[in-house]
Amino acid sequence: MTRVRFLRPDGTLDREVDAPAGTNLLDLAQANGQPLEGSCEGAMACSTCHVIVAKEDFERLPPASEEEDDLLDLAAHVTRTSRLACQLTLTADLETLTVRMPGAAYHLDR
Ligand code: FES
Repeated sequence: MTRVRFLRPDGTLDREVDAPAGTNLLDLAQANGQPLEGSCEGAMACSTCHVIVAKEDFERLPPASEEEDDLLDLAAHVTRTSRLACQLTLTADLETLTVRMPGAAYHLDR
């Protein structure tokens, strides 16, 4: 199991959930009420699944592909630790991965 902490755009904790290794981060976020859109099944067709990864966790992730970087350029509120949630798969060494919802996504749903 890997614990994931979902933060609101203001940095406060929304919820912590445990998920088995192999779980896709976007699927987990959507199943836990996070305001992310997107359903590309890994084919990369949007930038609405954008999350901001905690700085200390960002370095533990495999690097983004060129295609992912290109799509992130289209996302709102991008930071240096932004990633597309659909491209992230939980692994045991990502224990306590912390991701923050970007402001634009937050306002879509709340
Ligand atoms: S769901 Fe956004 S790029 Fe895959």
